[in-house]
Amino acid sequence: MSEVSIVGAGYVGVVSAACLAERGHNVTVADKSRERISLLIEGKVPFHESGLDDILKRSSSRISFTTNTGTAIEKSDLTFVSVGTPGRKDGVIDLSQVRSTAHEIGRALRSKRKMRHLVVVRSTVVPGTTWYVLRPAIESASGLKVGEGFSLAMQPEFLREGNAINDMLHPDRIVIGECDKQAGDRLQVFYEGFYGDHTPPILRMSSTSAELVKYACNAFLAMKVSFINEIASICERLEGVDVVRVAEAIGLDPRIGAKFLDAGVGFGGSCLPKDVRAIHARAKELGFKSLLLPATLHVNDRQKRRVVEIARHLSRNLRGKRVALLGLSFKPGTDDVREAPSLEIIDHLKRAGANVVAYDPAAIPNARKLLGRRVRFASSARECLHGADVCIVVTEWEEFKALTPEMLKSEMKRPVLVDGRRMYDPERFAGVAYAAIGLGTEQASSHGLH
Ligand code: UDX
Repeated sequence: MSEVSIVGAGYVGVVSAACLAERGHNVTVADKSRERISLLIEGKVPFHESGLDDILKRSSSRISFTTNTGTAIEKSDLTFVSVGTPGRKDGVIDLSQVRSTAHEIGRALRSKRKMRHLVVVRSTVVPGTTWYVLRPAIESASGLKVGEGFSLAMQPEFLREGNAINDMLHPDRIVIGECDKQAGDRLQVFYEGFYGDHTPPILRMSSTSAELVKYACNAFLAMKVSFINEIASICERLEGVDVVRVAEAIGLDPRIGAKFLDAGVGFGGSCLPKDVRAIHARAKELGFKSLLLPATLHVNDRQKRRVVEIARHLSRNLRGKRVALLGLSFKPGTDDVREAPSLEIIDHLKRAGANVVAYDPAAIPNARKLLGRRVRFASSARECLHGADVCIVVTEWEEFKALTPEMLKSEMKRPVLVDGRRMYDPERFAGVAYAAIGLGTEQASSHGLH
């Protein structure tokens, strides 16, 4: 078993640490934030991921936490770097944590002369970063050369929030971008040991290719969502056409696949929007003007306006109206509101003069930090609906499935429902004013056909 260190106690770092320790590795996790490290030492997970606290508890004898990166490196022979790479407004990612980590690793390697250390980048970084930013920083701080004094690889992560442990334990593939051959060989052996008979396909390539794989993957997923949302907008203009049926039929074509074809208010979260912007900005730096990447983002922005337009259309005017907004997190099963569609939808509603009351089973504390008093928060879906003129479902939480036309009629001033996530069977809601993303109505017509 290896002595492993992980720099960056974020989502990827802590999930990886817990899974590696559970399978017998000794892991030291380093992070600059004292607050985060103290919480982890107390056995508390600083974010919402079901099952993670149990694994951490079970493997606590093999995990330690520190704010000192140097000590973590010295104790180990394999280091995973999973520090944050936040995106700026223009899409360019901020590499300051990556740079300072590379420098610290280099300094620690200068004094550590045992075995050749293997550094593996897990942070999402734009193509070229491992080779042109991390490698020279480690080399100059350590006085060592890659492939001689230390090994360096880039291995993108594909963890989904809410499913991260399962994704780590049962990955579809492992992508290894190697700066030197030994890095690739060692990492391959490490994962073959970790996954045993269940080792997924391991793909080896250059570090720059591996960096691009991550962005290409997220950009494709985002594009798939924007694609079906674009089709949804066409459906809305045609009588008797429903995007759910259309998606089902096209998804059965194995060349397309059924996943990521749920039309709705758009994609959010800490990865998809940020990564599409970042690879678009990187392409620009490389002298290439992408057409698909900005279009993917535009469709996503338009989708959030569209749901408000539908609400406006159903209630004639939103000024002074009370809107019940169900769902604040960017997807169900998480309290994360980073780039959540709900935030922009609330902005559009406020601009239209509406009063917003919101409810979410998990994300209210995080949403409150960003929204303050702009929104009133309810403590249940029923309370949220009470006295409202229109209800918009923004996140498809399981508990919202329990909504019935009777409940809308008894709680709301007027029973008007905008289904932003296609949660309900339109026929069941036939007795109330119901409209949904991607659902053509009788008012939709044969525009332009003669
Ligand atoms: C994503 C990638 O899936 C993961 O591989 C990567 O490592 C991190 O980014 P995550 O951000 O956790 O994971 O969310 P994901 O489940 O992919 O959903 C992203 C967004 O797309 C959500 O807002 C979701 O509501 C939206 N979405 C997804 C749709 O609107 N329709 C779909 O069909 C699928």
